[in-house]
Amino acid sequence: MTKAYYLYVFILTLHVFCFSCFTSAKQQSSNFTDEYALLSLKESITEDPDGILTHNWTANTSVCNWFGVHCGVRHRRVTALDLHGMGLVGTIPPEIGNLSFLSFLNISDNKFHGSLPFELGNVRRLKVMDMRVNNLAGEIPPSLGMLQELQHLDLGNNSLTGKIPFAIFNISSLRLIRLSVNRLIGSLPNDLCNNLASVKDIRLSYNYITGKIPISISNCRNLQVLSLGSNNLTGGIPENIGELPSLEELYLYSNQLPGNIPSSLFNVSSLRMMNLESNSLTSGLPSDIFDNLPQIEAIEVSDNQLSGLIPSSLSSCRKLQILSLSYNVFSGQIPEGIGMLPLIQQLYLGGNNLTGTIPPSISNLTSLEEIGLERAGLSGTIQICIEFWTS
Ligand SMILES: *[C@@H]1O[C@H](CO)[C@@H](O)[C@H](O)[C@H]1NC(C)=O
Ligand SMILES: *[C@@H]1O[C@H](CO)[C@@H](O)[C@H](O)[C@H]1NC(C)=O
Ligand SMILES: *[C@@H]1O[C@H](CO)[C@@H](O)[C@H](O)[C@H]1NC(C)=O
Ligand SMILES: *[C@@H]1O[C@H](CO)[C@@H](O)[C@H](O)[C@H]1NC(C)=O
Ligand SMILES: *[C@@H]1O[C@H](CO)[C@@H](O)[C@H](O)[C@H]1NC(C)=O
Ligand SMILES: *[C@@H]1O[C@H](CO)[C@@H](O)[C@H](O)[C@H]1NC(C)=O
Ligand SMILES: *[C@@H]1O[C@H](CO)[C@@H](O)[C@H](O)[C@H]1NC(C)=O
Ligand SMILES: *[C@@H]1O[C@H](CO)[C@@H](O)[C@H](O)[C@H]1NC(C)=O
Ligand SMILES: *[C@@H]1O[C@H](CO)[C@@H](O)[C@H](O)[C@H]1NC(C)=O
Ligand SMILES: *[C@@H]1O[C@H](CO)[C@@H](O)[C@H](O)[C@H]1NC(C)=O
Repeated sequence: MTKAYYLYVFILTLHVFCFSCFTSAKQQSSNFTDEYALLSLKESITEDPDGILTHNWTANTSVCNWFGVHCGVRHRRVTALDLHGMGLVGTIPPEIGNLSFLSFLNISDNKFHGSLPFELGNVRRLKVMDMRVNNLAGEIPPSLGMLQELQHLDLGNNSLTGKIPFAIFNISSLRLIRLSVNRLIGSLPNDLCNNLASVKDIRLSYNYITGKIPISISNCRNLQVLSLGSNNLTGGIPENIGELPSLEELYLYSNQLPGNIPSSLFNVSSLRMMNLESNSLTSGLPSDIFDNLPQIEAIEVSDNQLSGLIPSSLSSCRKLQILSLSYNVFSGQIPEGIGMLPLIQQLYLGGNNLTGTIPPSISNLTSLEEIGLERAGLSGTIQICIEFWTS
């Protein structure tokens, strides 16, 4: 054995020793970062009605044992934080951006106020961000666009203002974008759906969004729910909305949408809910228009300027529960086939220019709970209604 060999072994040992020394020190400091971030969150909470954080989040036990906190098995870093529905009042501190292993965050149904810190964009492993039903205000930080693994973004029922940062629509992993019930303004980008091939659920209703529904909407190939109701959208319903093969729920009510209901929409056989009420839609509906909607449960188009006859194909919609055609300018008679809708519960035909009498088949509608025929223009309405309700 030479001196050089001993020296080599010594250096190797020292190296291995120092390496493990270094990694454990690093791991420990990272754990402290998580603890520091969570203690900052605890400090930003001014009310904790059940005292859970006050009593449970204490520095004498590992963060991994704290209520609502989950850690990775191997690295013992915080991967999930679930504090939903605890009545917490407080703000979200910037230190939350240091939870670098966090992938699940649910603080929904509390009273968090203040704005979202831009440091949230540093939580690069985040897949789920659920902050709905709080009092969050201010603008949505554009830094959220850096969350390239985000799948579930729910900021609904808050008081967020400003424009939706377009960078969010560039997160191709997103499956769900819910920003309904806020005070968001501005228009949607033309390329809205060019990078959202996986998105199934877009809800932006009850905001102040202006402009057109982007034509790129048809690129959201997996869309099941599109909810843009109660905004200030103009410019018409894009013709290619009927190219969404999995669309189940479409809510465009209470906007200022003019023009036709694209006939392609009536070819989306997966459609269950269609609510286009309170727009400026015109045009008539071809008599066979309802032939391809076997799943439809609600057709709500009241308060528009739709004209012509009520399509006789209505009787093909065997699952229909709600039919609301009121306050349009439909004319002619109520189709006899209306009696072939066994599940119908709500039927609103009032405020039209209908003629004739209520077809006798209406007495087949045993599920009917509410019927609106006021100012429908019918003759003999009152007598038949009384007979119907007393029979
Ligand atoms: C941890 O500290 C809290 C108060 O800071 C105390 O109530 C609790 O008993 C301590 N728990 C342990 C296991 O030492
Ligand atoms: C904190 O809560 C967790 C989860 O409910 C529980 O397992 C743990 O014992 C609690 N710790 C303290 C110090 O109360
Ligand atoms: C978050 O918690 C709420 C309860 O407030 C629950 O309904 C929701 O499903 C949770 N979000 C996620 C993404 O698991
Ligand atoms: C954590 O975040 C805060 C605020 O964003 C920052 O000042 C601090 O240096 C960060 N790092 C650690 C290790 O806590
Ligand atoms: C969210 O807002 C909508 C519309 O204002 C309201 O109907 C709904 O109850 C709210 N959700 C919650 C959980 O508060
Ligand atoms: C979206 O991504 C594309 C391609 O990666 C890029 O060119 C574009 O600027 C991005 N848009 C936004 C709003 O970040
Ligand atoms: C926007 O829509 C709301 C109803 O959703 C309406 O009260 C308001 O007048 C509209 N604003 C404009 C500028 O059209
Ligand atoms: C509806 O589908 C049928 C059969 O697939 C097709 O022939 C027709 O052109 C479609 N109509 C519209 C308006 O897309
Ligand atoms: C209602 O129908 C009558 C008779 O068909 C017609 O004379 C009248 O112009 C119609 N009114 C409207 C508002 O369409
Ligand atoms: C509905 O009622 C009509 C006449 O009132 C009757 O001839 C018809 O067989 C009934 N249809 C169904 C599906 O019950």
